[in-house]
Amino acid sequence: MSKPVLAVEGLSKGFTSGEQRVAVLSDLSLSVGPGESLAVIGRSGSGKSTLLNLLCGLEIPDEGTITVAGESFDGAGSSDADARWAELRRRSIGVVFQDANLMPALSLLENVRLRGHLAGQAVGGERGWLERLGVGAEVDRYPDKVSGGQAQRAALAMVFAMTPALILADEPTGSLDRHTADDVADCLFDMQRTTGCALVLATHDRELAARCDHLLDLSALDPMGRE
Ligand SMILES: Nc1ncnc2c1ncn2[C@@H]1O[C@H](COP(=O)(O)OP(=O)(O)OP(=O)(O)O)[C@@H](O)[C@H]1O
Ligand SMILES: [Mg+2]
Repeated sequence: MSKPVLAVEGLSKGFTSGEQRVAVLSDLSLSVGPGESLAVIGRSGSGKSTLLNLLCGLEIPDEGTITVAGESFDGAGSSDADARWAELRRRSIGVVFQDANLMPALSLLENVRLRGHLAGQAVGGERGWLERLGVGAEVDRYPDKVSGGQAQRAALAMVFAMTPALILADEPTGSLDRHTADDVADCLFDMQRTTGCALVLATHDRELAARCDHLLDLSALDPMGRE
């Protein structure tokens, strides 16, 4: 069996609210191999975005170990953890957040080119990705001149341009109509199959979740026992 791109063991995370520590994720373990996909579902507030933030080092776990592309991190942290996470995010982890995070002073095409360049990729298919994602007519527009769904698709093209080992996508079709969402999902799964990267996506969209190889329902694991 090939080594997992992502492995998580005993992951726990809570936040302090007033005097109280509120548990969001508790003793979670999972593994995603090359070419595999995992859908993270669960009610609003169940911890989907928190999990994705932990998996790219933007949150630090209270407990547990996260291994991405052979690099391991634990809750205790280490002096070089920030630098190792930053390097992984630059080259190996493509992240699409709930709010598309484009550079406002660059056109959609320039945003995609910059992301590929930062990941060490040769300039090439950026326009093609944008066209395949249905925003070919908007490539020269700036982020404030496109719709939320168009910006989200440009953010996805940025991740494709990196050719990452792991894609973390938070509601990648959240602002899209059903038809466009299906087209974007086709493109995402095609890209994933072609490059053999691992994919973790958080979504409320049951149809999208059903297309993934594995399903993690955080509502079912709610540490507060809520449904
Ligand atoms: N930085 C933070 N400080 C305090 N509480 C936080 C923080 N980030 C998230 N939370 C809390 O953790 C819980 C999980 O939030 P999270 O954003 O992970 O939920 P989600 O499943 O992504 O929800 P949604 O479906 O609405 O996007 C929520 O109760 C939220 O208020
Ligand atoms: Mg969320």
